[in-house]
Amino acid sequence: MKRTSHISELREMIAQEKNQGRVIALVPTMGYLHRGHLTLIERAKQTGAFVVVSIFVNPLQFGPNEDYSRYPRDLERDASLVEESGVDLLFHPTTEEMYPRPIVTYVEVGQLDSMLCGAARPGHFRGVTTVVSKLFHIVQPDLAFFGQKDYQQYLVIRRMVSDLNLPIKICPVPIVREEDGLALSSRNVFLTPEQRQEALILSRSLNEAEEIIQAGERSARKLETRLRERITQESQGDIDYVEVRDAEDLSEIADIKSPVLIALAVRFGSTRLIDNKVVEVERHV
Ligand code: PAJ
Repeated sequence: MKRTSHISELREMIAQEKNQGRVIALVPTMGYLHRGHLTLIERAKQTGAFVVVSIFVNPLQFGPNEDYSRYPRDLERDASLVEESGVDLLFHPTTEEMYPRPIVTYVEVGQLDSMLCGAARPGHFRGVTTVVSKLFHIVQPDLAFFGQKDYQQYLVIRRMVSDLNLPIKICPVPIVREEDGLALSSRNVFLTPEQRQEALILSRSLNEAEEIIQAGERSARKLETRLRERITQESQGDIDYVEVRDAEDLSEIADIKSPVLIALAVRFGSTRLIDNKVVEVERHV
């Protein structure tokens, strides 16, 4: 596996591969890799492309009171994991390499970036779209892989690529979960054993929501109320949002029509977890 922290060196390595006609796939991450990330890498490998993984904890997408400084990091462990997964090139730039001076140029995806996680984390998606644009310009991939764990992020990136005519195919990957249902996240390490247990309410209530819809519930507000009640009654979690939205554009809906996104963000202590499910509605004739 090749690895570099320098943009110029990476560009040379990519140019060599492109000259040989290789398709380039990019898997952008912030490191502290788990099975979720490794699944993205596996999907990228399956395409036969030259697979580039980036590891960069992007300060631009963290708010002033968020967990940038305590975000978990372990580059050498990550490097062995990606090497074992058969990745071709690991790009792990320093903050100075990515932001040699204060940035004044941003990429912003309107509307989609200010709801759900964007409402709770102002500036977050602008930080994500700006760094992902930089990575796209640096790596110039043909394909890029994003997890549906961060469903809104996936939609925001997809919209950015479409609005700016970037010649990159965005490939979504379904959420990878622990056996008991908890969605894998680098932030799970912050949970106490009790919080880890309570956090199961996320995946459980999403499964229940799907059952409620399949049983015929079509009111988005009623479903949200039920989910809020369940989460409040059965955990100490502090709800950030519980939303039932159009799964294509995140617009607010009154009636549940296919397909809908059920999205949750709940805080356990100082750890904010997100989870979601896309539910297709069976059409009754
Ligand atoms: P990070 O949180 O490290 O996630 C990197 C990628 O892994 C994202 O596309 C995310 O959706 C995916 N991922 C994480 N957990 C997953 C799970 N349980 N199942 C499936 N996919 C999962 O998302 C970011 O980094 C950053 O915002 C980034 C895009 C790299 C920009 O800085």
